[in-house]
Amino acid sequence: MSLSDIAQVREEFVMAARRALSAGFEWLELHFAHGYLGQSFLSAHSNRRSDGYGGNVENRRRFLIETMSAVREVWPEHLPLTVRLGVIEYDNQDEQTLLEAIALIRQLKNAGADLVNVSTGFNIPNTDTPWAPAFLAPIAERIRHEAGIPVAAAWGIESPALADRLVRDGQADLVMVGRAHLADPHWPYAAARTLGVERPAWVLPPPYAHWLERYTPVE
Ligand SMILES: Cc1cc2nc3c(=O)[nH]c(=O)nc-3n(C[C@H](O)[C@H](O)[C@H](O)COP(=O)(O)O)c2cc1C
Repeated sequence: MSLSDIAQVREEFVMAARRALSAGFEWLELHFAHGYLGQSFLSAHSNRRSDGYGGNVENRRRFLIETMSAVREVWPEHLPLTVRLGVIEYDNQDEQTLLEAIALIRQLKNAGADLVNVSTGFNIPNTDTPWAPAFLAPIAERIRHEAGIPVAAAWGIESPALADRLVRDGQADLVMVGRAHLADPHWPYAAARTLGVERPAWVLPPPYAHWLERYTPVE
């Protein structure tokens, strides 16, 4: 990418944010994880540039900080602006990657990020990713404490009890549920019932909740 390509993509993020706002979205997340462009700038595995956007870590994080700042200028203060970031690669350089990510996240927070959705980098094919339920939760907890920002955690959070415990224990402020929700589109409602939430129907949109509360399933 030339420098003008970089400026153009940054402006395209801004234009996308404006469109999202005018379409009525109330939460915007910049996807800087999973080998997408932001992650590719950040990772020394993929960023081979020798100009102001590559080389040392300060240069590798420049695109992410500039883009966050530019989007924050058009995204209202009262609406959440979050960032999904690969903070670890599971490539045996994890401590250095994590420390770089924590420093970056402090800067993203200053640039206007309200929460970090913690994920992995996916920049290289061969990693030692320790796939297991909620394996990223301890990493999310560390980011939460050391970067001083609310965090979300994803990956393998399937049971309502596990989701609830991660938040209660302070490992994450939010949990993200992917495949379990795909397998059961009513996951939030079922979870609310399982966890004994008062008036569980109200995790659903109000028009559903109103009628569901007035419905008794036939035995
Ligand atoms: C059908 C499907 C499509 C996905 N597509 C993307 C994607 O385009 N980009 C991305 O970063 N992650 C994608 N993911 C990964 C999810 O964002 C999430 O991180 C992952 O499923 C882990 O959460 P889970 O264990 O609760 O499913 C996808 C997941 C699923 C199941």
